[in-house]
Amino acid sequence: MHLLIRRSVEDVASFVADLVVDRVRQGLVVLGVATGGSPLPTYAELVRRHRAGTVDLRRCHLVLLDEYVGLPPGHPASYRHTIDEVLRRPLGIPVDHLHTPEVHGPDLVAACERFEALIGELGGVGLQLLGIGRNGHIGFNEPGTPWTTRTHVVTLAPSTRRDNARFFDHPDDVPSKAVTQGIATILDAREVVLIATGATKADVLRRLVTADGDRDLPAAALAEHRSTSIVVDAEAAPPRPLAS
Ligand code: F6R
Repeated sequence: MHLLIRRSVEDVASFVADLVVDRVRQGLVVLGVATGGSPLPTYAELVRRHRAGTVDLRRCHLVLLDEYVGLPPGHPASYRHTIDEVLRRPLGIPVDHLHTPEVHGPDLVAACERFEALIGELGGVGLQLLGIGRNGHIGFNEPGTPWTTRTHVVTLAPSTRRDNARFFDHPDDVPSKAVTQGIATILDAREVVLIATGATKADVLRRLVTADGDRDLPAAALAEHRSTSIVVDAEAAPPRPLAS
């Protein structure tokens, strides 16, 4: 894992946007996308560059990390809707290049298997963008999730529901279940970039620095990945560099 500290949220967004554009120029096709607040400035920066005519991501496929279970299709807080609005449509990426876990059918376990198969058919995720929960989750893999998991149905931790209540009208509206790529699925991506900004992420970043295989910290699994960058702003920065 490489830790990269940038001064501000804007500098993080610009750095990660540069990295995405560089990988696309090198032939990246499948971009794994997180939702939540952390990557939004990066997405806005990519859209700004698209509008300026300096980047073209129209050939890319977008693969979502996770999706809530129990929201009606098109709900404004659903992750599919969010990525559609903030990234896919503004970048002119065809709708059939947007891939999300299926959460509306009767058999979610079978749907999880289909999602895994789909990622394989796309050739795997080339670059996976991640955020990190304050409890160390990546995707919606909450603390204690085995690192061997693949796409699965999860029950969200109460703290995750509280943290995500800001995207809903009422805290009780936050679903209690979701489908997420598993930790092993995430580790299959050829390159991972985790974005963490703001003082609320400082504690978990400090834990990640010293995690050393801590199974209670899902993000610690990234130490087993061959190409992971953690990009943070000054407020989130841990006190000393991560061991690689
Ligand atoms: C979102 C996701 C989550 C978030 C995490 C941080 O698709 O999988 O792991 O990345 O909860 O959320 P923010 O960025 O809102 O602090």
